[in-house]
Amino acid sequence: MIAPPSAETLWEASMRCVPGGIVASYLPPAPARLIIERGLGSRVFDVEGREYLDWILGSASIVLGHAHPAVVEAVSSQVACGTQFYATTEASASLVAELVEAIPCAEQVKLVGDGAEATFYALRLARAATQRDKVLRFSGSYHGHHDYAQVGATGGIPSVINELVLTSPYNDLASAVAVMEQHADQLAAVIVEPFHRVFAPSTGFLEGLRDAATRLGIVLVFDEVVTGFRLAYGGAQERYGVIPDLACYGKSLGGGLPIGAIAGTRNIMELTIAGSNNPTPAFVAGTLNGNPLSCAAALATLKVLRETDAYTYLAKLGEQLRAGLREVAAMSALPLHVTGDAGITGVIVADGDPTDPQILASVDRICAAKLESGLFERGHLVRVPYKWLVSTAHTVDEVDHLLEDVSQVCANLSLRRE
Ligand SMILES: Cc1ncc(COP(=O)(O)O)c(C=O)c1O
Repeated sequence: MIAPPSAETLWEASMRCVPGGIVASYLPPAPARLIIERGLGSRVFDVEGREYLDWILGSASIVLGHAHPAVVEAVSSQVACGTQFYATTEASASLVAELVEAIPCAEQVKLVGDGAEATFYALRLARAATQRDKVLRFSGSYHGHHDYAQVGATGGIPSVINELVLTSPYNDLASAVAVMEQHADQLAAVIVEPFHRVFAPSTGFLEGLRDAATRLGIVLVFDEVVTGFRLAYGGAQERYGVIPDLACYGKSLGGGLPIGAIAGTRNIMELTIAGSNNPTPAFVAGTLNGNPLSCAAALATLKVLRETDAYTYLAKLGEQLRAGLREVAAMSALPLHVTGDAGITGVIVADGDPTDPQILASVDRICAAKLESGLFERGHLVRVPYKWLVSTAHTVDEVDHLLEDVSQVCANLSLRRE
């Protein structure tokens, strides 16, 4: 039998063949190497047999834990029936019906490839609906890889896009409404992560955006790529009680398989089809949209979420984690701040006001990297600053175990800092 390639060979190949060795956007803290062999529940295992508790969860794509039996079973059955048709399938038809049922703003949905496609198309639909070109987003937001989402943050964006994307600080309603009023006749959409990075909305912020958007004829887009099916079954719309015109999904929806969705009102969603009063429909389609494997995984994930007490459990673990982290922060000399809601916890190492999203601009990168690295050595996958996530497969004891290790790593770092 031929032996499988060693971790060293695989790591060297990845570093040599991929720029920076970065497959998606996570690398373990240097000099560590991580080649994952498999995941099960709350844990992942590397090819050298090491085990890690996973608090990154496929960048928020996994909500039931790795290789959940219901997802494995659904995908395995679908594989045997064919993996791609470019037409409506039993799985895609069942899924869109469930999404319309589950998502408060959804009269109709379109299945797309991932979260970035969902936000890209939502902005296109908003432009088609309003015949306006500009969009407003919030400083520091992340809506995926496309030009409208990345303007000002990355190279390679046509300079003309700069003029089309306005920004305003999150949770500052007066500033946002002022921009909306000033640009109303050119503004197609306001796109917001209702739970912005690691910050919950302040009282009245989302409601105020909703009112101003309605008054000014601007399309309100919720980017629920992280919050959808994670904060609550009905996402941030259900949790915060504000209903947008369009909402974007990805990540948890697919139970770890690639999928995205745009949901919204019929009058906007139907702009994707030609009609007598819509001679130039807004194109929303891709080869793999509605892929049956992804739809099967999504249906299985949603069924478990719907039929169990998943959201009470995720919130309980999230609260346990935040309470414990706040105790550690209070004892520590590090500028450690803890934010979050329900099963999403934010951990920030920075001097500044932890309720102000601008704090992310002054993260203590060295300290954050040491915290990440100390926890990696103790068998935890986390990112700092980032969301620390729980799945329904995580346990109270595992959260306690993480807290114990955070406490020890912080104690060591504090000693060195003092
Ligand atoms: C809020 C939000 N929107 C959109 C995206 C893009 O999703 P994807 O990377 O699946 O395309 C992300 C990804 O992290 C995200 O966090």
